[in-house]
Amino acid sequence: MKLLVVGSGGREHALAWKLAQSPRVQIVYVAPGNGGTAQDERLRNIDITDPAALADFVEAEHVSLTVVGPEAPLAAGIVNLFRSRGLKIFGPTKEAAQLESSKDFAKAFMKRHHIPTAEYETFTDAAAAHAYLDAKGAPIVIKADGLAAGKGVVVATSLEEAHAAVDSMLADNKLGDAGARVVIEEFLEGEEASFIVMVDGKHVLALASSQDHKRLLDGDRGPNTGGMGAYSPAPIVTPQLHARVMREIILPTVRGMESEGIRYTGFLYAGLMIDAHGNPKTLEFNCRMGDPETQPIMARLKGDFSKVVELAIAGTLDGAELEWDRRTALGVVLAAHNYPETPRKGDRISGIPAETASAVTFHAGTTLAEGKLTTNGGRVLCVVGLSDSVRGAQSVVYDTVNQISFDGMQYRRDIGYRAVNRKQADRHG
Ligand code: AMP
Ligand code: GLY
Repeated sequence: MKLLVVGSGGREHALAWKLAQSPRVQIVYVAPGNGGTAQDERLRNIDITDPAALADFVEAEHVSLTVVGPEAPLAAGIVNLFRSRGLKIFGPTKEAAQLESSKDFAKAFMKRHHIPTAEYETFTDAAAAHAYLDAKGAPIVIKADGLAAGKGVVVATSLEEAHAAVDSMLADNKLGDAGARVVIEEFLEGEEASFIVMVDGKHVLALASSQDHKRLLDGDRGPNTGGMGAYSPAPIVTPQLHARVMREIILPTVRGMESEGIRYTGFLYAGLMIDAHGNPKTLEFNCRMGDPETQPIMARLKGDFSKVVELAIAGTLDGAELEWDRRTALGVVLAAHNYPETPRKGDRISGIPAETASAVTFHAGTTLAEGKLTTNGGRVLCVVGLSDSVRGAQSVVYDTVNQISFDGMQYRRDIGYRAVNRKQADRHG
């Protein structure tokens, strides 16, 4: 069979790589793909991004099913369009994708369904927002309602910063329509984890747990990014916490959407904040898999993923089982010069070693032109290593990273440190 993955990042490379391992899959098209998907002979890039043109392609090539990576085509309704043409696709409809595409929708939904999340209020009027900030004080969090490519959240440590964020979104319109409405919410303390499941409208299948590092610099300092590295499993997600997140967050979300007449299908990603007592709250929902969380998760997934996706599209996910490599998978993102501000493109990349049983390099912002691999975006590569321990996985990854080079390459040296600390504390406690 032929499959299609929509997107061009590291997440999409990892999804396509995993799907292509199935013996029944002949080819996985990636639209538009990147320099890494261009090099893999089981994958083929197609230079189409328009959803209607993609549907034409799928019909013409008899593609069996489509998996969507990023949120933008989902929020634009690619699933609605494909379904209206009778094409099999895994992802949420435009209506269901509002859990990610509108923070106000997500917050009001969580309130209605008693799903634990930070206290909040929504504003369109700058004066009212400023008054709310003064009443609440700092630290406080200001979020643009709409999709803002990771630039829509300001965690303000001072009131000055908070007022400036409100002005930039509501008064100066810096984020356009996405920032014309803002959610202001309580600052939550704790440790973050990514909880990602597959949903077929009714049944839920949890993927392995993972944790991401959002800040650019070691020690979780510097600006927020899309994610500089991730690992799976995340030791903070104990079996007890897993059960609680399913019971208090995931299942009420899927049932709640159904009760409101919006069947949720696709990947559902709950960004969690877990406090010192182990209580989880929902920071956000994403209607897709995480990037870079997908890379270590796919590296650990065993078996035929195309079958699982097929069951999910058919609404029979209760018949699916996932088997995981027991090792820890750890991914380190190699980012371009000046990421995340204005990443430079066009730097020559060299030294990426061939995939082994314990290390694989997924491409994101890369392009292949006339046989030359160059940087083409902010997050360029994600090197994933597998080992029996987090430290072991770190050493596999950094050995690989040391072979790769491009001008301006930046990466964190401490991906996984929380997991290492937690394991040490467990041993000594
Ligand atoms: P979001 O896109 O809503 O997940 O926000 C991006 C990042 O901002 C999260 O991964 C957190 O690191 C941080 N953040 C968001 N909301 C809060 C909150 N209420 N309290 C503390 N940090 C937050
Ligand atoms: N790594 C965070 C995200 O994909 O939203």
